[in-house]
Amino acid sequence: MNKQSIAVFDSGLGGLTVLRALRGRLPQEDYFYFADTRFLPYGDRPEAFLKERGVLIAEALAKRGAKALVIACNTATAAAAEAIRAATALPIVALEPGVKPAAALSKTGVIGVLATTRTLQSERFQRLVGNHANHLRVLAQACPGLAEAIETQGPHSPQVAALLDAFVAPLAAAGADVVVLGCTHYPWVAEAIARRMPVGVTLLDTGEPVARQLERLLSATNLIGGGSGQLRVATSGAPNKVIATVDRLWGQHLAVEHWEP
Ligand code: DGL
Repeated sequence: MNKQSIAVFDSGLGGLTVLRALRGRLPQEDYFYFADTRFLPYGDRPEAFLKERGVLIAEALAKRGAKALVIACNTATAAAAEAIRAATALPIVALEPGVKPAAALSKTGVIGVLATTRTLQSERFQRLVGNHANHLRVLAQACPGLAEAIETQGPHSPQVAALLDAFVAPLAAAGADVVVLGCTHYPWVAEAIARRMPVGVTLLDTGEPVARQLERLLSATNLIGGGSGQLRVATSGAPNKVIATVDRLWGQHLAVEHWEP
């Protein structure tokens, strides 16, 4: 049982920012990373579609022999985490924007949240703000097109720069002192976001907390260990279309295979 891998999925390559934290904390585990590139971006898709797709992916990953699942996508979590939990017996770690830690850190009482339209419109996000940040001003900034531009044009492209100019300026103008990176693609442009904010602003991403949560979950279910640090990366799109970006983001060459859930 312990010899199976941990499945990690996202709409594309954003979840690699989470995978990096997972491997940093649990390097001995084996990982299967799935980028659902064929359907990127998730952020503008209807909730019903994401639910159906999420369940299909989770079931296929379970069948493939995953011992646990990390939903490395805020949008998929917001739309489908409950449906996925109901559909599979796999231990699951889902992630959500770090509104709670942001609320605890903010001194100005103004926090910014950068995320996809679908995440910000979800009931789950409304609940999160209601439970942890009701006393604060929460600037929920949807970033349509950003995840896709990071992936297809590159994090340092003029397209990404123009989108960041538009999306980050309102947060800086309103005096936000904490910015939540509520989409797993955005840590790839963290420096560019920080440059557009006043000095001293805190950016929060969820890689580390998710890695700690996975460790707790694997320990509690007796599933920790048994791997050899193997990593396999797959996409529902054409591997040759993502390979260069994977290598650039990851910082070293990774083989990418095609996989269809
Ligand atoms: N990486 C995803 C997230 O964390 C979504 C990007 C997209 O496909 O729109 O929300």
